[in-house]
Amino acid sequence: MVRHATVALKRTGQQMPLVGFGLWKVTRATCADTVYNALKAGYRLLDGAGDYGNEKEAGEGLRRAIADGVVKREEVWVTSKLWNTFHKREHVHAVAKKQLGLWGIDYFDLFLVHFPIALEYVDPAHRYPPEWWGDDKKVHLAKVPLQETWQTMEELVDAGLAKNIGVSNCQGSILLDVLRYARYEPAVNQVELHPYLTQEPLIKLCKTLGIAITAYSSLGPQSYVELGGDKGAKNLLEHDIVLSVASKHGKTTAQVLLRWAVQQGLAVIPKSNNHERLLQNFEVDQFTLTEDEEKAISSLNINLRLNDPADIDPRIAIFA
Ligand code: A2P
Repeated sequence: MVRHATVALKRTGQQMPLVGFGLWKVTRATCADTVYNALKAGYRLLDGAGDYGNEKEAGEGLRRAIADGVVKREEVWVTSKLWNTFHKREHVHAVAKKQLGLWGIDYFDLFLVHFPIALEYVDPAHRYPPEWWGDDKKVHLAKVPLQETWQTMEELVDAGLAKNIGVSNCQGSILLDVLRYARYEPAVNQVELHPYLTQEPLIKLCKTLGIAITAYSSLGPQSYVELGGDKGAKNLLEHDIVLSVASKHGKTTAQVLLRWAVQQGLAVIPKSNNHERLLQNFEVDQFTLTEDEEKAISSLNINLRLNDPADIDPRIAIFA
């Protein structure tokens, strides 16, 4: 089996796999089997979140794979994320423990603040996972400084509940702010990144700061089309330039899009509910795009943010 490239994280030096399996939109009914099959196919990073609502089932798949001797716990990198309603000091520990319990593991390899946006607390016993909207279908922003959340995330490291901590959906200016007070600097920033949103300045800044980037929505608008909100962009998987590069290499357009990211040192976390595509997405190490191909794909950039945190909290735009 091909051993995938990894990226060494600052502070711990731990090697995070560059190709992982994302759990967003993996249905509860299929999640345990999908996770089991992903591990069997060779994936060694699972990217979950409280918000995805399938951590219990993902944990079932992981535990079954461990019981069957497919993997050992220490060979699998488990990432999860803290949802926006749990940013307060008194909620972070309890929710992290609850999530570990759902997975049936005693530490996360990486735990991320899902968004730099705090929402009003929702009792997990009442509704879990809570979404963006309250019961009244309105967004309720809460005034919890990110400093409070980050410093509590650091306590999770001290308590051995998370080996590495990081952020998600953060602009450069927010990263710089966190660095002012961080005892443990964010190891990873997980952001939307694909050829329609190449994020070159953010990549440059993160490289300078030693923060690894995980790209989500690597296949572009696809996952948003599924959710009924494609913002009008043409499907990247059918784009002429991507198609022509794919045919030159005898690969699929999805593989080219993933390769484009991995080749820049970015981690990717494609998800697929389809086993063929799950296998295909893992095979992105055996070919290399030429510099011209890489540039041609990067030139598709139109700064199209499909998942814009500023749509929820306009104050975020101030920091962009
Ligand atoms: P499916 O699960 O039916 O394969 P994300 O951006 O969250 O990773 O979402 C990936 C989206 O792209 C999903 O809609 C998924 O649908 C689809 N997809 C995943 N892998 C491939 C692939 N290799 N080719 C085409 N579509 C893919």
